[in-house]
Amino acid sequence: NQAIKVALLGAGNVGSQVARMLLQDAETLAQRIGAPVELIGIAVRDTSAKRHFEVDASLYTTDADALIDAADVVIELTGGIEPARTRILRALTGGKSVVSGNKALLAKHGMELQAAAKKTGAQLSYEAAVAGAIPIIRPLRDSLAGDNVTRVLGIMNGTTNYILDQMDTTGAQFEDALAEAQRLGYAEADPTADVEGHDAASKAAIVASLAFHSEFTIDDVHIEGITSVTADDVEAAVADGFVIKLLAVCERDGDGVNIRVNPTLVPRKHPLASVHDAFNAVFVQADNAGELMFYGPGAGGAPTASAVLGDFVSIARRMVLGGPGIPESSHASLQATAMKDVVSRY
Ligand code: HSE
Repeated sequence: NQAIKVALLGAGNVGSQVARMLLQDAETLAQRIGAPVELIGIAVRDTSAKRHFEVDASLYTTDADALIDAADVVIELTGGIEPARTRILRALTGGKSVVSGNKALLAKHGMELQAAAKKTGAQLSYEAAVAGAIPIIRPLRDSLAGDNVTRVLGIMNGTTNYILDQMDTTGAQFEDALAEAQRLGYAEADPTADVEGHDAASKAAIVASLAFHSEFTIDDVHIEGITSVTADDVEAAVADGFVIKLLAVCERDGDGVNIRVNPTLVPRKHPLASVHDAFNAVFVQADNAGELMFYGPGAGGAPTASAVLGDFVSIARRMVLGGPGIPESSHASLQATAMKDVVSRY
């Protein structure tokens, strides 16, 4: 069997966990995919930096372009706009499918990246970009594609939910709760993106694009973060039977869509009020499905890595069955292998 060669860009909180899963679970992944998986390298800025998960030092490289060119699939977990954008475009243009967790990039240049993917038939998957481990991209893009979504309410930033929850339940100070969220690995490298609402706004733009079959960017989102929320505000909310949450709201508004992120008073009885710690939840209302709530760990290395691996397995399975990314000559043998595997398992 020809191995599927994976290039990993980034070895931070999430990248390290993805490397761990690719290496430790290699056998299981190979069985599920129908072909072996080979992590061929990890592109980083500094090859000597301390990592959350130690791998063979020879896997690290600073030459991301060479790594991308040698791979079948690229997993981008570096964050930020550049050089991530150029690297993803390089991969897609070369016909390599990409898994990315880069919400800021997708919310700004998603259309450009999708167009590049379409040209070569490569796939661009980004379940990990919104709400960590929670499956929300595929449900919105696929499962609800035949319905009419009218509104999406989301707690889509774990750091701010952690801070507001600590202020609400233990009376913690904003700064202390933020420091703890950073220590636990929930916050962005620059936590301003969390507390000012930009991280949630990127996710809101991605979610709104899928929910309303349109193309929105972060520039379409009205943004207000939680830096102005005081202990007095939290106390007043409690007294009135509310809890303060940083909500992303995407809703139909006449012929258009209104997308905003702001601190919101949520009645204690609403399901979103009981989303604690760094958990996320996305509450979807649709004409026919009614109300749905997706809930789970919205930040952190391993949960987000789970979403990355899900996208990867799905791409790899498609490749094994003859999708883009595997050279023409190897289609037949891989297909035969996959077929045998299906027969022996059932
Ligand atoms: N900083 C983000 C959060 C990480 O706190 O939700 C997950 O996208």
